[in-house]
Amino acid sequence: MYLENISLSCFKNYTENKLEFSADINCILGPNGSGKTNLLDAIHYLSLTKSAFNTIDQQNIQHNCDYFSVRGVFNQGGSRTKVQCSCKTGAKKIVKKDQKVYTRLSDHVGLFPVVLITPYDTDILREGSAVRRKFMDSIISQIDHSYLNNLLRYQRLLNQRNQLLKDFATRQRFDAELIASYDEPMLALMSTISRRRNEFVEQFAPVFQKHYKTISDDQDEVAISYQSEVISEQFKQSFLANHQRDVTLQRTGMGVHRDDLKCTIGKRSIRKFGSQGQQKSFVIAMKLAQFDLVEIHKQFKPILLLDDILDKLDDHRITRLIEMVSSHHFGQIFITDARAERTAVILKQVSSDIRKFMVSNGEATLVENSISRD
Ligand SMILES: Nc1ncnc2c1ncn2[C@@H]1O[C@H](COP(=O)(O)OP(=O)(O)OP(=O)(O)O)[C@@H](O)[C@H]1O
Ligand SMILES: [Mg+2]
Repeated sequence: MYLENISLSCFKNYTENKLEFSADINCILGPNGSGKTNLLDAIHYLSLTKSAFNTIDQQNIQHNCDYFSVRGVFNQGGSRTKVQCSCKTGAKKIVKKDQKVYTRLSDHVGLFPVVLITPYDTDILREGSAVRRKFMDSIISQIDHSYLNNLLRYQRLLNQRNQLLKDFATRQRFDAELIASYDEPMLALMSTISRRRNEFVEQFAPVFQKHYKTISDDQDEVAISYQSEVISEQFKQSFLANHQRDVTLQRTGMGVHRDDLKCTIGKRSIRKFGSQGQQKSFVIAMKLAQFDLVEIHKQFKPILLLDDILDKLDDHRITRLIEMVSSHHFGQIFITDARAERTAVILKQVSSDIRKFMVSNGEATLVENSISRD
């Protein structure tokens, strides 16, 4: 599966731009602030119906414009699909597949998967558990459509239940029956979600460990495990016994919305004890494992978006990644770099159809279209 072309209108700093891509490697070059990452983000929109960096759609509309539109054509084994994502000021965004408007955006997620590797990935380790849940959820959602729907349903119930708990506090009146009406559907969804997350992590962890060994120099044992209070046998009783505490806290204190991924190196927390280099290798291995898992489930390779990684990786890790590129481990790749000469040197080693685009002030142009051979 690959993206044949893209057309941007008033998307961030792009006013009007149409580009035809290589099915192999696309280099997006240009100075800082020119729009390289924005182009990757537009591809992210076509895949996941949202930005990877700014979750407020309206803020992706070009300043002084009243809409943005991103259109693209995906090619899957010769079959072409047009996808359009647009957003007007003050209105909800619209996503179309072959001119048909989606009523549920979640129906689109997973059809044209992408894996994005950025310098911000170490946030996955450094920030709170919400980031790790998001990481896990975004992968499972791309490979299991019912999971995303269950998650959205759970989130809605959780929001409603929390609102009720707040209302009880405001009105100084507790309605036990009303709150209990949420228990059964939420417990059922929690059990399904935690089972799926557990199954996912069991499959994910060994693939991640294999990649960590390949890209890092050090021999430390790394591990990722699923942490959830929901999988314990007593969870249902504890959840039901927690009503009074929920009322006091004015929110639901237990559930899958508190799950986490335990990430360790040499049995210790990577966040607290891992070096910067170890943390970088750790998250790249997580993303490479994401790539493999999506491929296993979808039976085709997701698009790989590499944002500024040459800048942030040392030679050893770059060599490992380029070996993977050379061995055609990946499918279509988009790689951004502010230093064109560096990319040229690195990609000399790769035999692929490589297109280079130069970005300047929100306009990308094709500058080189080469099929390099060993
Ligand atoms: N809604 C918007 N309207 C207009 N311009 C925007 C909007 N959002 C972001 N920008 C502009 O996009 C530019 C940043 O683009 P981007 O992050 O893609 O740059 P880059 O080429 O990746 O830079 P770097 O090499 O520093 O990573 C900034 O100049 C920013 O002002
Ligand atoms: Mg950038």
